Order: sequence, then structure tokens, then C-alpha cells
Amino acid sequence: MRLRSARWLGGDDEVALSHRVALRLTEADRDRPVIGIADTSSALNPCNASLAELVADVEQGIRDGGGVPARFPVMSLGEDLMKPSAMLYRNLVAMELEETIRANPLDGVVFLANCDKSVPAALLAAASADVASLLLIGGSRAAPLFEGKPLGAGTDLWRALDERRSGAMNDRRWEHLERSLRCAGPGACNTMGTASSMAVVTELLGMSVPGSSGVPTGSPQLRRIAHQTGALVVRQALDGRTPTQRMTQAAWDNAVRALAAIGGSTNAVIHLAAVAGRTGLYGDLMRMDRLWRDVPLLVDVEPCGAQLVAAFAAAGGVPALARALGALLDGDAVAGDGRSWARLAAEAPEVSAVIRGPHDPVSAAPTLAAVFGTLAPDGAVIKVAAASPALLRHRGRAVVFDDYDTMRVRLDDEAAGITADDVIIIRGCGPRGTPGMPEWGMAPIPKRLLGQGVRDMLRVSDGRMSGTSFGTVVLHVAPESAAGGALGRVRDGDLIDFDLARRRLDVLVDPAELASRPVPPPAASVHLRGWPRLYRDHVQQAPQGADLDFLTAPTPASRRFVEPTVGRS
Ligand code: FES
Repeated sequence: MRLRSARWLGGDDEVALSHRVALRLTEADRDRPVIGIADTSSALNPCNASLAELVADVEQGIRDGGGVPARFPVMSLGEDLMKPSAMLYRNLVAMELEETIRANPLDGVVFLANCDKSVPAALLAAASADVASLLLIGGSRAAPLFEGKPLGAGTDLWRALDERRSGAMNDRRWEHLERSLRCAGPGACNTMGTASSMAVVTELLGMSVPGSSGVPTGSPQLRRIAHQTGALVVRQALDGRTPTQRMTQAAWDNAVRALAAIGGSTNAVIHLAAVAGRTGLYGDLMRMDRLWRDVPLLVDVEPCGAQLVAAFAAAGGVPALARALGALLDGDAVAGDGRSWARLAAEAPEVSAVIRGPHDPVSAAPTLAAVFGTLAPDGAVIKVAAASPALLRHRGRAVVFDDYDTMRVRLDDEAAGITADDVIIIRGCGPRGTPGMPEWGMAPIPKRLLGQGVRDMLRVSDGRMSGTSFGTVVLHVAPESAAGGALGRVRDGDLIDFDLARRRLDVLVDPAELASRPVPPPAASVHLRGWPRLYRDHVQQAPQGADLDFLTAPTPASRRFVEPTVGRS
């Protein structure tokens, strides 16, 4: 087939000549697929820092496959430093990638990603550009030791934070904790946080090498996967295979079910909705909830289990999970190397202590759920497997916070009189609110209650929470407060009624009175310019994946990738 790059590089005129010279193509390189390597490594993002070390292996894989590699840098989305949230920039990076592909003679792309938002950004770009592509995900970081035990990234830090706030962790242990964390190498969080969850999701969408999720950063296995990824994308480019041929409804449904089986991040729910929006698949919360209902927790990895992600990879990773899920997955869906998931599952290791079978789960279904009601007419999400069973049917007084800083101060104010039965509401942190939907949803437990041994309360938010977090937290309430949602009309003392079994989240206030209440002005009423302005003006709500309205694909025609005119620049 004619390669896309031939529009730039083929022919004898001076324009084609200058294009070939710009890429430093030799005669031997002519007519070979040009494969971009989107490199998101950065010193500002420790989770992606080691990706640069994999570039040489990807390049060699591309050359061995018969292609020409072309590395290019991409904005790096790291959770650790970016404020208000790396999520604000997911769509920007997806656009950056899509436009880099559109504007250049690329026949395929290997996306190097790892930290939470870099993975979905690449998936969205791959779906929209739809040239041959795979993601190479940089693996999980080794666990540092603290007091003789391996530290699970995020999850153990949240527990330590509670200890610190309750007064149980002194300065010496706190400093020791910081030193231990500083010793951790590069790589993604080693628990089933958002990065690891998105790695699993990516694999099931057919967008990475099967068996690659959770492989330790820096391992020889990851280098082999890097080489294989490069070679596979060349093959895809030559065969005319594109991401949307693999990102089918069956693959998407499989990814949604697998997310439940791993006790995965609620953030992945938003990213999966965005993928559905880009590809024109059915991807609403009702569908997700139906898919989750009979999927138990099969993977014993933090925050819902006890192990770390490396144990998941060692137990066979996603192919072994596919085997454990059996008929719960559609075996006809295709993996990143072209094999069916039925075949991969048949060849995978059997169930183990880390990847259990449905008859011996870590916990019963459901592990994730969508709820609806007067407080969340368009839906909200809860990670049931990380919640306290006693709070899954709960009624309590609302304690409302409109911004994070006020919440941090007032939560610990004894005069506020917050009790363990109250429902903490943190709002104004939805996609449009802050803007960027920060991970503020898991509000801390008030210090006084921590001292009494309280470790969980019902919390409700239009924001997100870290995939490594835990607790009874209802997230992504839609419409969000800043979009005029009912959450913005709740007042201190209103009764909130949560009933997981009925999938309901209600505010027990007369509907007429609720509608008559004013909504608080968005925190971002300050002048916004540049990207945050464009984002706030066009971002959709969480059930639509918090994607920009002009990037989604409401019809197959609107999904078509428009090629640029190629001529003199
Ligand atoms: Fe980057 Fe967890 S903070 S993967």
C-alpha cells in the first residue's frame, strides 16, 4: 500500500527533495515507513524520566522491522508537580500529538508514556489520528523500604499521612519516610493506581504489547518489549492497520470489565469515556455499571489488595487476567500484536494468589459502580472495593466546602463540630470548576476523628481522587457545581442519602427549594487566558470523559482525520 509519508517524500521535485533531506533519509531509506517516537521523558516527571533509556531499543526495533525512526519530544504530564492537575493538560497533549502527526510525514507512532495522564493523552491522539501506533508504557518503579517494609506508592503514603495528622508519626519517622521515598527510582506508581490501571486498559484496547503492563522499570524485559513495540508498529504501517480497527466496542467493553477486576482507578473511568467519545463507541456510565455488576476483584494489588504491581506482572499480567476472567471477556477482540485475546488467554499462566479466579476472588462484585440521583442526575462513580461496607448505605448531614484551602483549615477546626456520620462534600473541582478536575475528592478525615480511630467517612465530590487512594468516596458528580449542578446548591446540614444497592445518591431537600437556591460562583471566575481559558470554555463533563467538545466524534464522519495539503511550507 502507498505510505502516508509518500505524499511528503515521494517524487522528484524540490519540495520532496527538501523533505527527504530534512529527515536525513538515505537512498536505502526511501519507501520505508517513517515511525515517530513520541518521547515524554522529562526531569519534571520522575514517572516518565526513564523513558529516554528505551528510545534506542524502540529505534532498533523500528530499523529491524524495516522502518525509519524519528524521535520527537512531547510535553510530559507528571502528577507529582503539575498544578492544579496534570488532568488539565491531558487534552492539550492529545492535541499536540494529533497535530504533530497531522503536520508531519509519519506512517506510524510509538508513544512513550507512563505517568497517569500521559497514557490517556496518547490513547486519545491515537484514536483521532488513527495512524499505525502502539504505546510503550515505562513500567512500575521498584518499591523503596520504609521501616523494613516495601512502600506502595501513593497508598502507603496516604496511610502515613493519616498517621502523621493523628499525631502517631513523629518528626523522626516523617523525615525517614521522605528519605525512603527519595531513594525510589524512576517509573510509575507501583500500586494499581491510575498509571497501572491505564496500562491494563491500554493493553486490552489493543494499544500495547500483551503482557507489558506492570513490568518493572529498567528491566531487560521492558527493553525487549520496547524493541518489539517498534517492530510491530512498522508491520502495522505496512499492513495498513490502525488503532480504531482494534479499539472496537468489544475491546472497550473488555477494558471496562478488566478495570473492575483489577480494582482499578476511578480516573480510568473518565479516560475510557473519552476514548469512547473519540471513537464513536457506546461508553456511557449506565453501560459501564452494567459491565461491572458481575466482575469481582480478582487482582490482589494495592490499594484494594495487598501486593504491588510487579507481582501482577510476574503472575502473568493481563493475559493471565484474561484467562481468569474467561467468558467475562470477549475473546475475539485483538491485542496489540494482532493475536486474539482468546488465544492469549489460552496460552497464559493459570490463576494464582495474585490473579485469582472468579470462584476465589479477593472480594465480591462489584468493585466499581455508577450511581445516579437528585445529587448526581448525570451520574457519579465510586470504587466500591476501596470503600467501607458499612458506609455503602448511609444517610448523613452535609458539611460543604467550596475550595480545597478552606476545607483543609475547617476540617480540623474543632468548632466545626464534624462527626463521623457527616458527609463531607468538596465541590467546585469538576472539569470546568478549577479548571482541570484536581484529585481533591478524597478529603482528609478530620484530625479529631482520626484521634478517635475513625478512618473513613462518606465523601462526595465533583472532583477526582488519586487511583492509589481509598475510602468511601463518591466522585465525578455530574453535572458539576460549576456547571450549575445540584451539588452546588447543597448547604451545610442538608441530608445526603447514599444507597449503593439502588445505585442512588440523593439530597433530601424539596426539589423546588433546591432549584431556587443560588449556585456558588466558580472559583475560576478570575480572568483565565491561554489553554485554561480554552479548556474551561469547551470541556465536557466527566461522563463524557472531560474531553473538549470539538475533539469528540459524535458521528463517524466527524471522526475522519483531515490530512494537510502537502506542498511548499
Ligand atoms: Fe506518576 Fe503515579 S504519580 S504514575
